[in-house]
This record gives sequence, structure tokens and C-alpha cells, in this order.
Amino acid sequence: MAAAQRVGVFLIIIFLLPPLRVAEPSVEAAGSVAGPAAPPETGAAARARPRSAPAPVTDVAKLCVCDLLVAQCDANCCCDPDCSADDFSLFTTCSVPIVTGDSRLCSQKAAVYSLDVEANPPERIFKLIDQVNPSVFCIHATNYEQALSFSSPEMPTAENFDQLLKRFGSAAFSAEPDNWNMNTDAHNPSDVNETYRYEYGVPIQTVDAFLRLPSPVVSSWCSDANPAGFLVNQATKCTRSVSVEKCDNIQAVSMLFYISSSILAVPKSSHMVNITVQSIVVQSLNGMRTLLNSSDALRLPMISDELCINIVHGVSYHITYTDTGEIIEAAASFVLGVINKEVLSIQQSFEISFTQVNTKPVPLSGNPGYVVGLPIRAGFRPQGSGIIQNANKYGQLTILQSTSHQDCLAAQGARIPILFGYNMISGCKLRITAAMKCQPLAQTLLDLLKGQSFPEYVASFGNSQAQDVLDWVPITHLHTSEQSSCQIPVSLEIEVKWTKYGSLVNPQARIVNVTATITTTTLKQLPSGREKTIPITSSVVFTDISSPAEPGYKAWPTINVKLPFDFFFPFV
Ligand SMILES: *[C@@H]1O[C@H](CO)[C@@H](O)[C@H](O)[C@H]1NC(C)=O
Ligand SMILES: *[C@@H]1O[C@H](CO)[C@@H](O)[C@H](O)[C@H]1NC(C)=O
Ligand SMILES: *[C@@H]1O[C@H](CO)[C@@H](O)[C@H](O)[C@H]1NC(C)=O
Ligand SMILES: *[C@@H]1O[C@H](CO)[C@@H](O)[C@H](O)[C@H]1NC(C)=O
Repeated sequence: MAAAQRVGVFLIIIFLLPPLRVAEPSVEAAGSVAGPAAPPETGAAARARPRSAPAPVTDVAKLCVCDLLVAQCDANCCCDPDCSADDFSLFTTCSVPIVTGDSRLCSQKAAVYSLDVEANPPERIFKLIDQVNPSVFCIHATNYEQALSFSSPEMPTAENFDQLLKRFGSAAFSAEPDNWNMNTDAHNPSDVNETYRYEYGVPIQTVDAFLRLPSPVVSSWCSDANPAGFLVNQATKCTRSVSVEKCDNIQAVSMLFYISSSILAVPKSSHMVNITVQSIVVQSLNGMRTLLNSSDALRLPMISDELCINIVHGVSYHITYTDTGEIIEAAASFVLGVINKEVLSIQQSFEISFTQVNTKPVPLSGNPGYVVGLPIRAGFRPQGSGIIQNANKYGQLTILQSTSHQDCLAAQGARIPILFGYNMISGCKLRITAAMKCQPLAQTLLDLLKGQSFPEYVASFGNSQAQDVLDWVPITHLHTSEQSSCQIPVSLEIEVKWTKYGSLVNPQARIVNVTATITTTTLKQLPSGREKTIPITSSVVFTDISSPAEPGYKAWPTINVKLPFDFFFPFV
């Protein structure tokens, strides 16, 4: 991709100087002029205004000035989308460590790139942070789309003269179009509650301040100032200094530090959500990991036999929210480890992910036939009963969701519904180390590809009823594999065959066959200390197998030609 070019045209706020005003401003003009002359606003409007700033025109995460080669990875260009994890492992530095939008904006996103050279292999770290411009004359938002191009002025003609005179004929006029909507948002009743719900990127508030996701800011050392933004999935890694003697006094290596302050369900509310401990994995000195049975126990750092146990190596937060932007559940999974006297610093990894709850019942996906773009209804059939459907849309037919960091093990559980008629492909990358055992790895990958509960049946029509078992198509499972002792699944392909059913004028889509094919590959034992990355993919394909309707013809008349026997004479 060539270096991204930006056209920076910004809204210039027009201040109408009070002496220019001759008469009382009309309501329309007052509403469309931003500046000190605007009438005082009601409390609700004033509160809602800073939140109604529209999305920025440029996305810094997509800007990359060092990306010069088309479809090739530029060396040391950490923002180049063509670079893979393998390329990053060969980088020595990030030539462009920070990408920001226009510096004249009051608040802007900045994309920060760095390399984690201590990881094996080295990895790129990407963070999106908010930068604040303290200047009084900063630009609040570039939301005036028309300002990005010139519109041709209207030439007065005999037809439009009166209308133009009415608009521009007075001492003051507004140049903004009618759809200028800086203030109209505030009058929308649904926005009155805006302050009382989380919006994308807003720091998650806790009783004392906000939920923090430690991250490397200037160096690779952890800084605790990075707020976790609502719906911003993040994964960070940073280094903390530790010592066995003082380990029970270092807050940042104690589980308590990460779960002690409750989260506010919505900003400024008094309703709190406690952070529960979802799971604890304990890592021994030699790297062996075991999952603890009882998860709600709090394990604090302790010195025993010249070792310090229960040191936090990793925290993964999982936040569940509703469609109204309210947090209803917060859970944390921990990786705890042991350090000995030689260890002076540890690397900690942090992660946060978000899941929306869907409390609505499964909607129909068409009536009767499936409608393109709606989910495929799926379910289970326990012995001797009708079909049981999961009420959550993520309990329907789903596939693995691709994530930005592409790490399969981190992506576990993230799935998206399969939509009728949309072919999709998604995937992630799995880092295999010599220490990984075949059997548990194969099971993990199968769970990853198929999700927690892969359905047994799919509704053949968008409105199939649960009690009409014959209206449901069983999913056929196929396996393709090589013969060897250790097989790990690497892809899941779902094929949905459907036909057009009913009258020619208004045919209805009906699913007739669904197959799920798991492809496995042989996992060769790696020499110790080596690792490799393999891609894991899942896909869904929709195939229309209806035979096309053909107009019928009578048999064409045949021509009975007879040539004289020596017709081709000189040639044969
Ligand atoms: C604001 O939120 C409250 C409580 O959640 C709700 O009862 C009320 O209807 C909401 N108001 C508007 C205008 O949406
Ligand atoms: C949250 O934690 C506090 C203190 O540990 C406890 O008093 C409160 O009952 C908890 N709330 C919920 C909803 O579990
Ligand atoms: C966890 O549970 C399993 C079986 O449920 C048991 O064999 C194992 O000893 C338990 N581990 C611990 C640490 O309690
Ligand atoms: C779907 O197609 C597969 C392969 O063509 C076949 O084995 C399977 O029996 C079919 N399933 C149904 C329910 O017809």
C-alpha cells in the first residue's frame, strides 16, 4: 500500500460578532451558529453536547507513513499491515513509533508502536491512546463533511432570486446547511441518558478512578496509568521489577490489586459490579501450567523456601455488557507464577475483552424462507424431545471470530454468528512450542473451531418451529485427515446447501444439507526450544443447489444434408 495521504480540511468555527447582529436572531440561525453568541442551553443539552462529537474523519490505526512497498512488508515499519508476526520478530526497532492525526485537534487518537524484544520471538506491541492538546485554539471536531470539498455557489437566476434574497439579503446570514446537526442531537430524547451509559472508548470507571490495564508507555516497564476503554479490546505486555524479599509488599504482583476496586455499572452511577475471579492458572518454575479447581480463592504473594509464590504473571479481564451500554459482569482470569532469588524482573501480560449479552429471544430468520443476512437458526435435540434452541444469537450456528492480535489461544470464545447467504472466512495463528502436548492441544483447537456448543440441527426454514423435528436438518460431520499418531485440527469448513422452494415468482430459501468438515494435520514434535506458528481457519460457504428453471422447447427441426461423395475431393 502506498503511503496514505490525508487531506486535512477542518471546520473553522464562525463567530458572529455581536455588533453585526441587527435584530433578534431567528431560532434557526441561533441553532446553527456555534460560538459565544449562542443562547444559554438547558442543563440536559449542555451535558449531552461534549458526547455528541461525531467519529473522527481519520483513523490513526490505519495510517502508516513508513508503508512504502505495495503488498510487501517494509523493514522496521511497525504499522505496515502487510507485515506478519514472523516479520515483526526480525525487526530491530519501530521506525515510526507513534502515528497521530492532525495536531490541531483538541483530543486525538495516537497509535503507538513498539517492539517487545524480550519476548521469544520478539513481538510488536500496538496501543491506541488518547492525546490531549492543551491549546485554547484547538479544533474540537472535524464533523463538517461539506468542508472537505468545495460546493459550487448558486448563481442567481430569475427563478431562485427571491429565495436567495431571503436567505442572504439580511445583515446576518448563516452559511451552514440545514442539516448541520451540532445541537439537534441534544434535543433527541434518547440522548438525554447518554451520560449514564458507557460508549466506545470511554474509560471504565471504578469506585476510586478507572479500570487500569498496565502497559508499557515509554519503556518496556509497566505503567499503571493506561485506562481500559469500553469495548476496546486490548492486549499488553510489560515488565515489572520484583524481588523475593519484598514480593509480598509489591502491589502490582498481587491478585488483590487487580480485583479490589469494583466497576461502576454505568459512569457516575452508584451501582457497582464486583470483579469476580473466573480462573487461576498456576505456573511452576519450569513453565508447567495447571488450572486450579477452586477459582474464587484469593492467592496472595507469599515467601516460602526462598521462593515467592502467587506472583501475578497475567490478568485477563472479561467484561459483559448490555446493548444499553451497561456493564453487568466483570471477571478476571489469572496466571500466577513463582520466582526465585535470581529473578529481578518479570513480564506481565494483560488483556481485556467484551461480550454483549443478548436477552432477546432468537428472532425468526425469514418467513418462511431464510432471508439473506439473518442468522442461521440451530439447536440440539435431546432424546425424545423437540429441538432446543439457545436463546443467545451466539448459541446459533457461529464461526470463530478473527481478532486483531490473531492469537488463537487469546481468541478463545470469540465467535460471530453465521449469516444466511454470506460466505465467510476467519482465522487465527497458533504458536506451537516443543512443550505442547498433542492430545490437549488437539482438544483445545477443536473447542476453538467448533465453539463451546456446536449445534446438532439447523432449521430448514427461517420460521421452523422447535416441535417440528422434521423441519430441522441434522449437521453431517466429515473428517479429512492424514494417518499418523498425532493429529491436530487446523480448519473447519461449513457448507450450507440450500434450494429455492415454492412458486417461481416468490421462491423461498430452504436449507437442505449442512456439512461440517474438520481437516487435521500431523503435528511433528519440535526440537526443544524451537517454536512455529500455524494458521487455523474456519469458513462457511453457501451453495445454491436448486436446478435452474428452464423454458421448455420442442425438438429443433433437423436438417438432413447429403453431400456428393467426392465433395472434399482434392483434400481427402
Ligand atoms: C433514562 O434511563 C432511565 C433508567 O434507566 C429510564 O427509566 C428512562 O426511561 C430513560 N430515559 C430516556 C429518555 O430514555
Ligand atoms: C461486592 O463486594 C463487596 C465487598 O467485597 C460485597 O459487600 C458486596 O456484597 C459484593 N456485591 C455483589 C453484588 O456481589
Ligand atoms: C482437581 O479436581 C480433580 C478431579 O476433579 C482432582 O483429581 C485434583 O486433585 C484436583 N486438584 C486440586 C489441586 O485440588
Ligand atoms: C448431506 O450431504 C452429505 C455429503 O454429500 C451426505 O453424506 C449427508 O448424508 C447429507 N445429509 C443429509 C441430511 O441429507
